[in-house]
Amino acid sequence: MNRRLAFRHLAGMFGAAPFAALAQQVKDPVNVFEFAALAKTKLDPLAWDYLEGGSEDEASLHDNRAGFRNIILRPRMLVDTSKVDLSTNLLGSPLEYPIILDPAGGKNCFFPKGELEVSRAAGKAKALHITNGGIEETLQQGTAAKDWWQLTTGGGLLTNKARTKTFVTRLEEQGCKGICFTVDIMHVSHREREIRNKLERSWCESGLPKRDAQGRMPVAQTPWVKDSYPSKPGPLPTWETLQDLCSATSLPVIVKGIMTAEDGDRCVRYGAKAVVVSNHGARQQDHVGGTIEALPEVVKAVNGRIPVLVDGGFRRGTDILKGLALGASAVCIARPYLYGMACFGQAGVERVLEILRVELALNMALAGVPNLRAIDRSLVRIRGEQR
Ligand SMILES: Cc1cc2nc3c(=O)[nH]c(=O)nc-3n(C[C@H](O)[C@H](O)[C@H](O)COP(=O)(O)O)c2cc1C
Repeated sequence: MNRRLAFRHLAGMFGAAPFAALAQQVKDPVNVFEFAALAKTKLDPLAWDYLEGGSEDEASLHDNRAGFRNIILRPRMLVDTSKVDLSTNLLGSPLEYPIILDPAGGKNCFFPKGELEVSRAAGKAKALHITNGGIEETLQQGTAAKDWWQLTTGGGLLTNKARTKTFVTRLEEQGCKGICFTVDIMHVSHREREIRNKLERSWCESGLPKRDAQGRMPVAQTPWVKDSYPSKPGPLPTWETLQDLCSATSLPVIVKGIMTAEDGDRCVRYGAKAVVVSNHGARQQDHVGGTIEALPEVVKAVNGRIPVLVDGGFRRGTDILKGLALGASAVCIARPYLYGMACFGQAGVERVLEILRVELALNMALAGVPNLRAIDRSLVRIRGEQR
């Protein structure tokens, strides 16, 4: 059924284009930015705004990209980089390359059964995928069981010890490799594009309804933003919840959404096995700066005790190289693969991963680093920094 739906979506986009032609079209965008431009033409404007937007002033959204311009690569010459090895090991599992697919809700706005498309692409491209789909569906049909599962407040799940235990036991039994606890989404932020567009929250799961003959969407019954605070009923998770979660499971808990040295240190002390420096793609608190700026202070505070990952605005192999040089063990991406999926489903996700992987390998070669162990802080300087 999924394949038929996906085919219909693709056929709608390309007419009766045979798959050979389709395979060629997947290769037309030259980089992630060109995938973004193409995705914008494919998607309903509401879906595009949901994908691309940030919260309030979108200041952090801007900073997530702008931060990379202040980090300058310091390439070394005359190193034999005829072979470049991108492989690494994360939490005891081998990774073929240090690019991880972030969790993203609302994928059905971009492609039918989007979570499965991504899950399959991750399996094919051998990328680690942090999934947040429906547990049964994704575990049975996708490859997600081998990957990390994302938990948030989950309707009080984490603040109820018995329910937490039952849930994590199921994940363990299904062969899940880690639990990603997203800590920066305890409140619904003001994503003003969604508010302005009157996007119905449930559409993010079900997919957008059809516009009527006049091009209008139905009116939202449960608008994105409520008029009062708090928008979610308590109690909300705390550092003790993290500790309880870590003790309830044999799986590593990875905390996603850390932006400060203080919280990085707390993650280690409360039992996390890895931390993701992230501002939720600039979709939660605004004016927190870019994640590439926050990365060094978290790396310093964690001081090698657990791996530090990072996401937010990574669009180029050079961006990933800069993140690794500043101490990240791997880089996570969301919008880049969502652009790919919006354009071509599974094939688009695979192609985006391929583009980033090749760009990373090429830039490592140009910089004189044949493997990830050879990348360190001396590979970059911050603009204006004295050496
Ligand atoms: C459409 C969309 C939905 C997202 N949904 C989630 C989510 O459900 N849980 C979560 O932890 N992060 C979510 N994120 C944030 C991403 O996991 C990630 O932190 C961020 O988008 C990375 O930045 P990038 O999109 O610039 O690569 C979402 C991001 C987007 C764009």
